Parts: sequence; structure tokens; C-alpha cells
Amino acid sequence: MPVQEVMNQTAKLQLGDKSIDLPVVVGSENEHAVDISKLRSETGYITLDNGFGNTGACRSAITYIDGEKGILRYRGYSMETLAENSTFLEVSWLLIFGELPKPGQVEDLADRIKEHSLLHQDMRHHFEGFPATAHPMAVLSAMINASSCYHPELLENNSIDESSLEVVAMLMAKVSTIAAFSYKKSIGDPQRYPDPSLDYCSNFLHCMFSKPYGRYSAEPEVVRALDLFLMLHADHEQNCSTSTARVVGSSEANLFASMSAAVCALWGPLHGGANQRCIEMLEGIRRDGLDVKKVVERVKNREFKLMGFGHRVYKNSDPRATILKKASDDLLKKLGVDDPLLPIAQELEDVARHDEFFLSRNLYPNVDFYSGIILRTIGIPIEMFTVMFAIGRMPGWIAHWKEQHENPNGRIARPRQVYTGSPERDYVAAGSRG
Ligand code: CMC
Repeated sequence: MPVQEVMNQTAKLQLGDKSIDLPVVVGSENEHAVDISKLRSETGYITLDNGFGNTGACRSAITYIDGEKGILRYRGYSMETLAENSTFLEVSWLLIFGELPKPGQVEDLADRIKEHSLLHQDMRHHFEGFPATAHPMAVLSAMINASSCYHPELLENNSIDESSLEVVAMLMAKVSTIAAFSYKKSIGDPQRYPDPSLDYCSNFLHCMFSKPYGRYSAEPEVVRALDLFLMLHADHEQNCSTSTARVVGSSEANLFASMSAAVCALWGPLHGGANQRCIEMLEGIRRDGLDVKKVVERVKNREFKLMGFGHRVYKNSDPRATILKKASDDLLKKLGVDDPLLPIAQELEDVARHDEFFLSRNLYPNVDFYSGIILRTIGIPIEMFTVMFAIGRMPGWIAHWKEQHENPNGRIARPRQVYTGSPERDYVAAGSRG
């Protein structure tokens, strides 16, 4: 499959009386880019692109998004097809290694994950150092980084291939166990050891919800809904946290350090933290009995943003939101749960979908709008929502770290800037400052 094709086409840039030709690069889905790699050395100019909205930071063969058409594909497979037919672990393999797993491969990954699901006994003491009120994203990031201290042999092992699953299995296992342990700590419950007889999602739910006096056994619909949630979050090309993983990895920092940094980037409310903020917003509307139309007016008056709405890339619909909306409806029906937030979410979506402010800005529900309803139904506490996103995104981060690491033309990420501070000035000694 052609990953990237360079056409014999150039873009002409006129800078004063100087003109230069810049090569045009075409991706495998006919996306066009102007390659400015030589811009500064040939002209002295750099580009300025607030929020990198027009900047391609790399060539990548992992995920394709067409934001105008609402298309999302992992390694060429449509999200809808994968959601219907695949599993989170299969998709993780696909993202990291580029092909759907052959018979036995995903089972091998699952077995390795089970082998690594326990934490080093010393690591369990780290949890005691955090206050019970610690946000689980802070704990997750710290503990992923701390994991590296217990596996120094993996710090130098910078290659990931199908025969050396060690570091992949370890990260996917640890992120799930750490997440559940941090929840147990926050509610003052004893931690529950992972159970190797369970699949990835069932085991996570067991570690989260089993009590010393009673074992939690998840309904199959709940396990499937969680698996779907994780799969839909598994990758999303150059988003803030994935770019962070690639940027940190570009300094040849190890995988643990890069993943820990990605968790921090995900935490923010404009990115993965939006799922928590979205449910808090819906709960606020319900608790205070607010009129949805008035809430929308306040959003239009710029008092606050509608969380779970809008996207840098999607300008029509977010296919993940469509799938999750249906999945949340199905789950609620199957479990006979009546979530009072669902009608509020639907009304908000209806009002916004007919309002010029939202239409003219292409603001539609994103993945975080309905994902919270699914997570609530599963029983995940709201503070853990972004952690759930992180568990799902782990294979995507690993895949991008691997791709970036294996790129023979890779360079350390080091943007330029347009300096806006003071010109050179004379130093004034402390005693003489007025
Ligand atoms: N509510 C109200 N107005 C909005 C919203 C929103 N959620 N999102 C964007 N706008 C407005 C924004 O104020 C701007 O208006 P104007 O042109 O009049 O100044 C216009 O729409 C364009 O927005 P932008 O801020 O330039 O868009 P962006 O591409 O820089 O930001 C975003 C994308 C996702 C950060 C933003 O839409 C947002 O803050 N949404 C709410 C938070 C959220 O749901 N984040 C999760 C994103 S999906 C999960 C993930 O992958 O991270």
C-alpha cells in the first residue's frame, strides 16, 4: 500500500522579490501538503500556525480521518466495520503492527497482558503516598512513569515487533491495573488482584468493582460496551496526546516516559478531560433544573463552551459519536436503566443542531458527548472517565511512538517561534532599579 507518494508538482511562494518552489506531497487518500522542510534554509522565513491547524507534523500510515465526510479508518478499515466485527485487543494489534492479527496472535497478546497485570509489590506502596482525593489521571501518569523503574531492562529495548510483545503487553496490562487500584484507593477499598481467567475488559471491571465480601461479575452486554468504548478511543491520528507521545519519543525518551506524558496531555478538558466535564455539565443542568435553550444561549454568549461539542478535524459528524450514541441507547435498553441525563443530552443536541451559531461553526457532538452515558451505565465513576479514555488510547500512543521511532528520517521535534519579547537591553543592577 503506498503510504505517501511525491508528485512532480510544486507550489510557488513569492517572498518580496524572491520566489521559491516548494514540493507538493500527496498522501494515499489524495491529501495534499506543501513540504516546507527547506523553507528556512532557503529563505530565512518560518511558518506560523496557531494550534498547528494547518501543519502536518509527520507522515503516518496508522489512522485516516476525513473530517468533512466523517470518515475514520484504522489501517484502512472503517471504524464502523471494526466496531461491528472486531475487539479492542484485535484493534490494538492492528494499530501497532499494521495488520489484523493472524490466528493465535491476539490470544498471545492477551496471555502476555495477563502475565503482566500484577504490579510489582513495591509499586503497590506508591498508592499509599497519594491522598484519597488525588485525581486518577495524576496517579496514572505518575505510576506509568514509575513502572519504568521496575523494568530497567525495557528502557533500552526501543524496538517493538510481533515477536517482542513485552513492552506492549506490559503497558496495556499496567494501565488497567493502575487505573483500578487508584479507584480502590480513592474509595478506601482494598485493592483486588487481577484475575487471569478473565478477558481484558472483564478483568478490569473485576478489579474495579469486586469487594472483599463479593465478587463482581459483569453482564456480557456491559463487557461488550466497554470493549467498544475502548476500541473507539484507540487512535485518532495527530491529536494533542498522541502528538505529545511522538514529541517526547522524538527525543528518544523511553516508551514509559512518552506514555506518561501523553496521559498528562489527555487530561485537559479540551481533550480527553471533556468526557468528565460533559457529564458534569449535564448533571448541573439537571440538578439546577436549567432550561436547555437558555443554556445554549449562555454558550452563544461565550459564558462557557458546550462540552462534548466541536472538533478540530470533524466538520460534519464524528463517527465515533454516532456509534456511541446508538451503543448507549442499546445498553440502557438491555439493562433496563433510565438515565435522566440522556434526554437532556438529546435535547441539547437537538437545540444545537438547529441553531445558526453551531451550524455555521460546524459544531456537532464529538466522542465525549455520549461516551459518558455509556460509562455511567457501566458504573464507572465520573472522575475515572478520562482514565478510561487513556486505557483505550494506549495502543494508539504505542503505535505512533513505534512509527515515529522506526522512521529513519525522524528528527527531534523542535518547533521554531516568532519572538515577541523585548529587544536587547542593558542590565540594571538590583540597587539601581527604580
Ligand atoms: N462550544 C461552543 N463554542 C465552540 C465550541 C463548543 N464546544 N467549540 C468551538 N466553539 C466555537 C469557538 O468559540 C469558535 O468560535 P469563533 O470562531 O466565533 O471564535 C469556533 O467554534 C471554532 O472553534 P475553535 O476553538 O477554533 O476550534 P478548535 O479546533 O481550536 O477546538 C475543540 C476544538 C475540540 C478544542 C473545541 O471545539 C472545544 O473546546 N470543544 C469542547 C471540548 C471538547 O468537547 N473536547 C473534546 C474533543 S473530542 C475528544 C478528543 O479527541 O480530544
